[in-house]
Amino acid sequence: MTSQGEGFTIDSDGVDPNQVPKRTLCTGEKIPAIGLGTFGSDHVSGEEVAETVKKAVSMGYRNIDCASVYGNESLIGDALHEAMEAGIPRNELWITSKLWNDMHGEGDVLISCAKTLKDLKLDYLDLFLVHWPFQNFHEPGCDADSRDRNARPYIHEEFMKTWRQMERLVKLGLVRHIGTSNVTISKLRMILRDAEIKPVCNEMELHPHFQQPELFHFVKENGMVPIGFCPIGSPRRPDRDRAPGDTVDTEDPVVMKIARNHRVHPSVLCVKWAVQNGQVPIPFSTNPTHLRSNLQAVVEDPLTKEEMEKIGKMDRNCRLIKGQVFLWKGAKDWRDIWR
Ligand SMILES: NC(=O)c1ccc[n+]([C@@H]2O[C@H](COP(=O)([O-])OP(=O)(O)OC[C@H]3O[C@@H](n4cnc5c(N)ncnc54)[C@H](OP(=O)(O)O)[C@@H]3O)[C@@H](O)[C@H]2O)c1
Repeated sequence: MTSQGEGFTIDSDGVDPNQVPKRTLCTGEKIPAIGLGTFGSDHVSGEEVAETVKKAVSMGYRNIDCASVYGNESLIGDALHEAMEAGIPRNELWITSKLWNDMHGEGDVLISCAKTLKDLKLDYLDLFLVHWPFQNFHEPGCDADSRDRNARPYIHEEFMKTWRQMERLVKLGLVRHIGTSNVTISKLRMILRDAEIKPVCNEMELHPHFQQPELFHFVKENGMVPIGFCPIGSPRRPDRDRAPGDTVDTEDPVVMKIARNHRVHPSVLCVKWAVQNGQVPIPFSTNPTHLRSNLQAVVEDPLTKEEMEKIGKMDRNCRLIKGQVFLWKGAKDWRDIWR
């Protein structure tokens, strides 16, 4: 470790951020091809996540995926502030945050963005996403049966009112890009048709057992960059996001065999595949060895065409984040969310 500034060190075993591949957005801007997730899955404290952000930036991560609902943005803000004080230029960092479901109302989007900026101690965000495409609220850490009595399905006219407020944030210079998350092709088609400022990215669940090929290609064909959440299959996700029949990517014999060939952990293989497949994975980890190997995975020892094809054939359509807590009165089951 080489010391640089008070409380912040540059990791001499890290990866040069200039070596990390980048994806070009339709605006010509570039986003680092791997990011760091910051959702503590209800069991990792905000302090620990913030410490991880510091470690990650010192190792060469430059893309951090935040959200107001993760409840840790002010602590992450301290970490980012320290990194910038120590000499990491703001324009080298790509900071994403997300609008939570209870802040879609008229006037709320600006308030939510301002709060996130204050917490993260930034004067602009690189990307602001609408976290889920409908309004509702549930308590952080709630169980799988929890429902918001006022929850509503996707109503395009309502979504566009939220989107107009997102567009305003771009015009005000508070956010550089806006995007969607947890949408489907049918919703995205309408959003793209009616948006004045188009979404540049769509954040979606993507891992070997859940490749969402139709949505993935639709996103790319429409000039958007797919950001892949749960790239490792979220082995420590909260109980509300677990269901009988869920499969485990890192225990798949194909993943395990290819990982062995490359002498990496199956988790690292998932990250390698994701970047080569064209999405921007945002793996979460608090373990420095894991953080480092996930980052190194994208700059060395690429998978062969045959290996990529083998993983491409492994899709099991196994959605892990089903979103059942967002269901509205009258909805049949979680599949209604994804129509
Ligand atoms: N837009 C959305 O609606 C949405 C939804 C879900 C998630 N997200 C975002 O996506 C991020 C990632 O998703 P996730 O955290 O659920 O799942 P994930 O990244 O698929 O999995 C994280 C888990 O993998 C383990 N891991 C990471 N690297 C490893 C390695 N090299 N070797 C062994 N184990 C490893 C971590 O444990 P260790 O700490 O022990 O390494 C952690 O338990 C979130 O943090 C959040 O930012 C967004």
